[in-house]
Amino acid sequence: MATYRICVLPGDGIGPEIIAEGVKVLKAAGARHDVAFAFEEHLIGGAAIDATGTALPDVTLEAARVADAVLLAAVGGPAWDTTDSSQPRPEAGLLAIRSALGLYTNLRPVRTFPALADASTLKPEVIEGVDLMIVRELTGGLYFGTRGRFHDEEGAGADGAPGQRAYDTLEYREYEVERIARQAFELARVRRGRVHSIDKANVLDTSRMWREVVHRVAADYPDVELTDMLVDNTAMQLVANPRQFDVVVTENMFGDILSDEASMLTGSLGMLASASLGDGTALYEPSHGSAPDIAGKGIANPLAQILSVEMMLRYSFGMVAAADDIARAVAAVLDEGWRTGDIRQQGTRADQLVGTARMGDLVVERLGA
Ligand code: NAD
Ligand code: IPM
Ligand code: MN
Repeated sequence: MATYRICVLPGDGIGPEIIAEGVKVLKAAGARHDVAFAFEEHLIGGAAIDATGTALPDVTLEAARVADAVLLAAVGGPAWDTTDSSQPRPEAGLLAIRSALGLYTNLRPVRTFPALADASTLKPEVIEGVDLMIVRELTGGLYFGTRGRFHDEEGAGADGAPGQRAYDTLEYREYEVERIARQAFELARVRRGRVHSIDKANVLDTSRMWREVVHRVAADYPDVELTDMLVDNTAMQLVANPRQFDVVVTENMFGDILSDEASMLTGSLGMLASASLGDGTALYEPSHGSAPDIAGKGIANPLAQILSVEMMLRYSFGMVAAADDIARAVAAVLDEGWRTGDIRQQGTRADQLVGTARMGDLVVERLGA
């Protein structure tokens, strides 16, 4: 029997609560398909800062490197929130592991589950049938550019008086754009043949280069229809007419923002899974954060984490049948009316409003059903 090594990174906030459900589902799916998983848990984020002083300890990175896949929950929280740029940040640990593993492609699938049509704040007729994939560039742009903050004696104030100055740099290299564009076109080929490339080419040089490179790559994919769209218009189009989108490819920060917005097409940020792929060990993580407002209460929605496990089986292990089982089980649980608080609808029965662990159990019970 094959055994895969999974590096488990619970992180902070609701992280430990939801990752337990991801692990539970992974074990159950493996058992049904004659595959075993060996789990090794490590520190990242705020928990790692508290224990070791750094958000990504060397042992964690090394464990991720040698694993067959990484399952991560979320990092961050008020305990580590500070505007003092010299203090360690949980988020820096996440950025560091993505970068060190060369995970430049972040896939965030946005699908409306029919049972959740009423759970969204958007009208059911707008979100019905939405099925799009955000392809977010994950290791470049503003997140990784030179940044700094200093006291400027020359005058940072409007009146020329000394004050603070700060900067972040948005920079892309041609090859970084080319490789993410290729991922988008390849995906479009096995989906509905459409790519929207999102930029701000009316203002930014990085976007103008992005657009040129994407069009050059597009020449290799004459069967795929390419549309350029400015990011501000895209933010509007996502809620006005989301069904126009198939594959949406964009740079790091635009993708971060647009994916949180797009999550509401599914009813909740708690539904949005993701896969971070590239050169090293692939990493699977919900798109949402550590949700400090509900942490420790056992009420977080574990489905984004569970659907990230689905993506792991599909992309890292080629276990398509097992992945399909999970997707079907999640849909079945939702069809039956089971809800966590974030996806509760009018008409949700009180006895079907469940917590994190029960939701995970329900998915396991429906596997292969
Ligand atoms: P968040 O995504 O943690 O939460 C936003 C809102 O969505 C909150 O109301 C939260 O309760 C809700 N929510 C998120 N996930 C949910 C789930 N699974 N079930 C039910 N409700 C859910 O974003 P935030 O509040 O802006 O950030 C909180 C912390 O998380 C910050 O420290 C931030 O840096 C960090 N963060 C981490 C990641 C990550 O690890 N990938 C992603 C985003 C934010
Ligand atoms: C995400 C998060 C992270 C990001 C933060 C926590 C660094 O918001 O995964 O979407 O912006 O990439
Ligand atoms: Mn985000």
